[in-house]
Amino acid sequence: MAQDVHCIIGASGQLGTEMALSLKAAGERVVLMDIKSPSHDGILDLPFEQTDVCDLQGLAHRLSKHNVSHVHHFAAALSARGETEPQWAWDLNMRGLLNVLEIAAGVDGLAQVFWPSSIAVFGPGSGAWAAQDGHRLPGTVYGISKNAGEQWCNWYHRHRGVDVRSVRYPGLIGTHAPPGGGTTDYAVEVFDHLNDAEPYTCFLAEDTQLPMMHMDDAVLAITQLMSVPRSALRCTEAYNIQAMSFDPATLFAEIRRHVPNFRYRCAPDFRQDIAAGWPGALEDSMAREDWGWKPTVDLPELVTSMIAARKGQPQLSQPT
Ligand SMILES: NC(=O)c1ccc[n+]([C@@H]2O[C@H](COP(=O)([O-])OP(=O)(O)OC[C@H]3O[C@@H](n4cnc5c(N)ncnc54)[C@H](O)[C@@H]3O)[C@@H](O)[C@H]2O)c1
Repeated sequence: MAQDVHCIIGASGQLGTEMALSLKAAGERVVLMDIKSPSHDGILDLPFEQTDVCDLQGLAHRLSKHNVSHVHHFAAALSARGETEPQWAWDLNMRGLLNVLEIAAGVDGLAQVFWPSSIAVFGPGSGAWAAQDGHRLPGTVYGISKNAGEQWCNWYHRHRGVDVRSVRYPGLIGTHAPPGGGTTDYAVEVFDHLNDAEPYTCFLAEDTQLPMMHMDDAVLAITQLMSVPRSALRCTEAYNIQAMSFDPATLFAEIRRHVPNFRYRCAPDFRQDIAAGWPGALEDSMAREDWGWKPTVDLPELVTSMIAARKGQPQLSQPT
């Protein structure tokens, strides 16, 4: 039987970099695709194809050339950038996903597709603790595209037999790549400003509670979800998954246990409105029952590992 070949589309981004490192460490065959080159040392030796996911022919050609069986489709416009460039965000998020699903459904097809949804599918009215089938009325272009994307995944599974699987990620916190323009980016950026002379300026109010997750658990969720038989999965849209929830004040208090002189100020900007429409936590019992979801990193561990990992490292550049 031919070995699985994994392709990460959006491989140069925050989640793509972590997934590439994980698949590489597991000895899997991996090909990376992105519109821009990867910059992390650990994955520079993996095959890379500069690819625009919105170019159906080019994407299909490269996937076929590498005999790709499994696609992890991460290329997307995130929430904050999406609000400033709504047409671009919609085109990228929809066209990219539809191209991947169309290729997956084609004659040579794909064995599996993973595509991440987001807590952004929920909007004002979903409640502080969003249920799996909670009220979804997204207030951002990003959230609208993720909500529509979930429906497309459901449609391609039911009508074209595509094995596409998804989770609703909260804010993701990792060390290897800069955040790409989301509403939870402060929780990554702050670790590059712990010893600044000036207080760190947080763009959310200090009592803004949001669900968050360490990248190790984000990658674990993919590995777990993709490895169970399809028949075990009741959800054909995207599973809620919860790891921890905190607000900036709680994160910064935990940081101060390690860096007593750390100072911050909060100056909420337009991202506060986005955050205000999102739930503070997700109810994830279906993911726990169906495929054994169980996060491994809590807030104290997250802060300890982020400080250790960022020590002596060049600052993660600002998103463009
Ligand atoms: N980071 C988070 O906190 C978070 C939370 C919830 C969901 N997600 C989802 O996870 C996925 C990955 O997020 P991320 O944080 O790694 O994003 P990111 O912005 O860091 O990375 C996205 C990558 O996509 C690439 N890209 C952009 N346009 C492209 C195109 N036309 N063709 C090919 N590649 C293109 C970018 O160059 C970038 O490397 C996205 O679907 C995102 O919505 C992320």
